[in-house]
Amino acid sequence: MKRTFIPFNKPYVSGREALYVQQVLASGTLSGDGVFTQKCHGFFEQKYGFNKVLLTSSCSDALEMSAILIDTKAGDEIIIPSYTFVSTANAFLLRGAKIIFADSEVDTPNLDVSKIEGLITSKTKAIVCVHYAGIACDLDQLLYLCEKYHLYLIEDAALSIDSYFRGKPLGSFGHLAAFSFHETKNITSGEGGMLVVNEKKFIERAEIIRDKGTNRSKYTRGEIAKYGWVDIGSSFLPSHLTAAVLFAQIEQLETIQQQRKKLWQRYYSGLKSLHDQGFIRLPQLPEYSYNNAHIFYLVCKNETIRTELIATLSKNNIGASFHYSSLHTSVYFAARHDGRALPNSDLYTNCLVRLPMFFELNLEDIDAICQVITNYFIDTSKN
Ligand SMILES: Cc1ncc(COP(=O)(O)O)c(C=O)c1O
Repeated sequence: MKRTFIPFNKPYVSGREALYVQQVLASGTLSGDGVFTQKCHGFFEQKYGFNKVLLTSSCSDALEMSAILIDTKAGDEIIIPSYTFVSTANAFLLRGAKIIFADSEVDTPNLDVSKIEGLITSKTKAIVCVHYAGIACDLDQLLYLCEKYHLYLIEDAALSIDSYFRGKPLGSFGHLAAFSFHETKNITSGEGGMLVVNEKKFIERAEIIRDKGTNRSKYTRGEIAKYGWVDIGSSFLPSHLTAAVLFAQIEQLETIQQQRKKLWQRYYSGLKSLHDQGFIRLPQLPEYSYNNAHIFYLVCKNETIRTELIATLSKNNIGASFHYSSLHTSVYFAARHDGRALPNSDLYTNCLVRLPMFFELNLEDIDAICQVITNYFIDTSKN
């Protein structure tokens, strides 16, 4: 008998979202920066010690705000990993910058920091790091390079809520950091994001850029008598409804994280023997990193095995998925790339598999998934 379908993702719902949305609807004010936005800001600033946070409609928005805040312009070079989502690059391309793609490490999909110094020129303005699967990049080295060459560090922390580097929260290292609350993330508002402003000089301008280039935030706080257009900007702020959903989720953050870590650990134990026998590679956690259990991935030996494994899981009613495609080989960018091979980025593009990971998944589901994977490798090794 076929088991019930185990999807790749199922967004968490705490049950209080509807109540809070109802409260917003009853309040008669639905647009941005209401009570729930303030509550979310307060939560993140207090829990993680972030200097200033601003909810946005997406992580893409927060990255675009970052590009504006550091005054990205034509001629600037921005170093980013090729193994990432398109938004990491788009944000800076939209401001006219040249993107310099860097390779991943052999051991993790994160930026290979040891290769970055060779990419820095007099035109380099910033390094954008992506903490893949919420596992921290080598921030000691990144901060050293940024200080040495006077570069901005921007953390694309889309996948990194409640994760840490040497005990300090991800998102607190860069001059700026961008988080996502898209439905695949540990906590979600459907679509949603957050800009963390660690550099004090950016705070006032960040508020303005987020609100269409106006100083309405100051007006709302009663600091000025009327507001107007003072800078460039766009409509990056989410509505009260989005913030209400997000607040219902952050109230349950600890419960969510405990459950996800339990699930992640079960996968790890269930697949360890395949890793030890060399069939697959399991995620490697550098000693400085912490695991927020955002993604459980494994790396196959080649693309054929990866394709077969995903098909086998699908035949067994299990939704598994690959992840990013190297941006330097994309339809849009290939002709713009400088021709450097980025073999590790391609390796993760071709060989990485993400397994189902969501709050409602249970340990029996995971045991069943591990069994399907184990059977696949044992059967194929016999042929
Ligand atoms: C590394 C990275 N950056 C940015 C984004 C964009 O996030 P959003 O959908 O919230 O704009 C994603 C999406 O998952 C991502 O993986």
